[in-house]
Amino acid sequence: MQVITTICELKEHLKTLQGSIGLVPTMGALHKGHISLIEKSVKENDFTVVSVFVNPTQFLPNEDLDKYPRNEEGDKKVCELCKVDVLFMPLAKEMYFEDEPLIKAPAKIASILEGATRPGHFDGVLRVLNKFFNIVRPTRAYFGKKDAQQVAIVKNIVKTFFMPLEIVPCDIIREADGLALSSRNVYLDEEQKLSALKLSRSLLKAGNLIKSGEMDSNAIKLEMKKILEPLKVDYVAIVDREFREVSKVELENTIILVAAYVGNTRLIDNIWV
Ligand code: PAJ
Repeated sequence: MQVITTICELKEHLKTLQGSIGLVPTMGALHKGHISLIEKSVKENDFTVVSVFVNPTQFLPNEDLDKYPRNEEGDKKVCELCKVDVLFMPLAKEMYFEDEPLIKAPAKIASILEGATRPGHFDGVLRVLNKFFNIVRPTRAYFGKKDAQQVAIVKNIVKTFFMPLEIVPCDIIREADGLALSSRNVYLDEEQKLSALKLSRSLLKAGNLIKSGEMDSNAIKLEMKKILEPLKVDYVAIVDREFREVSKVELENTIILVAAYVGNTRLIDNIWV
């Protein structure tokens, strides 16, 4: 495995590769969720590039950029074990220029849910991904459904800018108890981890209600909120794959999402039905 930190060196190395390239963009502190994306890419492509970059432009001023978990050595080991070809760990000063042309995430989809609480977040995500896509020129890029809105927004930019790559959404990886893996779970103590289970439980309830024939969004959201109590809930939402709110669940085209605080940690989770 090559560990590369400069864009110039990466480009030179990529020139020597012949075949399909899978890109897995991450912010590091790699866990089983990231690993599932990496494994899928390794399986589906001749070469896999994993990027580890805690992207400053997607954090709001009040967010956890400085204390965001970092584990460079652990990340190298994980990538080595997963048979990654290139681990790209760029420096912020190389990635960004003064007075850059900016990408604005589409207003309708980027201003709701995650975008409402984190205005500008998706602009920063698209800004960095556009750079990664241009540097690596991957055949495919892998994203977790855990960040469902991110998947929809990335798919949208790829389509509207006619970018020559395929976006591959990957299933959410959970702990045995249901908690969706997240780099931010390290902020939770044991008691908070138990409270955090309310998110996946509320989604499980939603899934069971739907299986029993309940398709009314309001009725489902009401039951979910009961389970989420007494957490501070940011949103419970039921949307279609383009993130338009729906009043009735339509199978194969609905995502149910929840965002809530456990202590000071904001967690998100969702199910695709
Ligand atoms: P990060 O939070 O590190 O996540 C990297 C990728 O791993 C994302 O596509 C995310 O959805 C996926 N992921 C995280 N937890 C997962 C889980 N439990 N199951 C499946 N996939 C999971 O998302 C970002 O970084 C950044 O916004 C990035 C795309 C790298 C741009 O900076």
